[in-house]
Amino acid sequence: MVLGLACWNSDAAARLYALLLASATPQLQVPAGWPAPHYDFADNRISRAGFELGRHLFYDPILSRDDSIACGSCHQQFAAFAHLDHRVSHGIGGINGKRNAPALFNLAWQPNFMWDGAVHQLELQPIAPISNPVEMDEQLDHVIGKLQADARYPAEFRAAFGSDGIDSQRLFRALAQFIGTLVSADSRYDRYRAGREHLSTVELQGLQVFREHCASCHREPLFTDYSFRNNGLDRTPQDRGRADVTNAAADEGAFRVPSLRNVELTAPYMHDGRYATLDQVLDHYIDGVQPSATLDPRLAGGIQLNAAERDAVLQFLRTLTDAAFVNDPRFAEIHE
Ligand code: HEC
Ligand code: HEC
Repeated sequence: MVLGLACWNSDAAARLYALLLASATPQLQVPAGWPAPHYDFADNRISRAGFELGRHLFYDPILSRDDSIACGSCHQQFAAFAHLDHRVSHGIGGINGKRNAPALFNLAWQPNFMWDGAVHQLELQPIAPISNPVEMDEQLDHVIGKLQADARYPAEFRAAFGSDGIDSQRLFRALAQFIGTLVSADSRYDRYRAGREHLSTVELQGLQVFREHCASCHREPLFTDYSFRNNGLDRTPQDRGRADVTNAAADEGAFRVPSLRNVELTAPYMHDGRYATLDQVLDHYIDGVQPSATLDPRLAGGIQLNAAERDAVLQFLRTLTDAAFVNDPRFAEIHE
């Protein structure tokens, strides 16, 4: 009798536990009206153990040479995984890089990574920061050795991949399960699109202005078309941008169009973080656009907006903030 009860209890507990696990395991859900994602998780099936391992790695400075910097040091959840207040990245030993840390979300839809598109595969992306001398300055085989010698990682890798062994492919797949499932699709704009929320008259006017002047590059619903363009920051670009990758004259000073989701939270702005506020960004588009041979023709002469239109666009941009995403406990650093 006692035994029977114990069995029933543990069975019910196991079912409840399974239910809890299932509800807590992030899956890649394609929001209504979005295109198909680019990254295929069929080759890297998301499991709770794999996702949690990716999250542990993301927040662990063990991936850097002197165990001082984690991915999460430069990609902070409250800033939609950008680096608040840092114009350019600030890596190991306090050395500055040359580019601003981008926000991380909806990466599964992104065809390439980095401001210049140098990386084409979500799983290969982390090699860059780990080995970059001004970011984590570490060598892959050394990281793998540290993970193998760690008290917890061997069991976590076994749970995630079903057998013993830590190698770079497993490291990158686990990180991809975490960063690839950071989906941001629950802003006020999204709820408005789904008919669940109203936007104010000014916000709606801002959406209209946005569609007329900005959406050709910052295309809905991801708020980027993933193209590379020169938006007129400099007459003579300091950073060659896309031309670093293609070596084509037409790509001098072209950078990937960034998504504007959560843009209220991701200051400072542009590839080199030169603008501290959205106000300054609007000043740039209205009367700061610099002519050059590679300036996108849509921006020649700047974008003409009157004061009311400018204010409306600014208010619209704030409807793209996804509070649920930046507060989602599944994506937060684990404190033990
Ligand atoms: C020292 C700061 C720093 C650290 C640490 C760091 N990153 Fe980054 N991250 C950056 C910067 C800066 C860029 C943009 C580089 C460029 O475009 O040249 C970037 C770009 C990225 C991108 C591409 C995003 C996009 O929209 O193209 C991803 C993904 C990413 N990092 C993930 C990671 C992961 C995973 C780790 C840990 C293994 C990590 N980062 C560690 C600063 C950092
Ligand atoms: C011709 C294409 C194009 C148009 C039109 C355009 N943008 Fe951009 N936008 C870009 C590119 C490219 C960048 C990144 C440039 C860089 O960093 O060098 C950018 C960057 C931004 C950023 C900085 C985002 C970040 O995370 O750093 C904001 C904000 C922005 N644009 C808002 C707007 C608004 C608002 C409009 C309309 C008034 C607009 N853009 C029109 C191409 C465009």
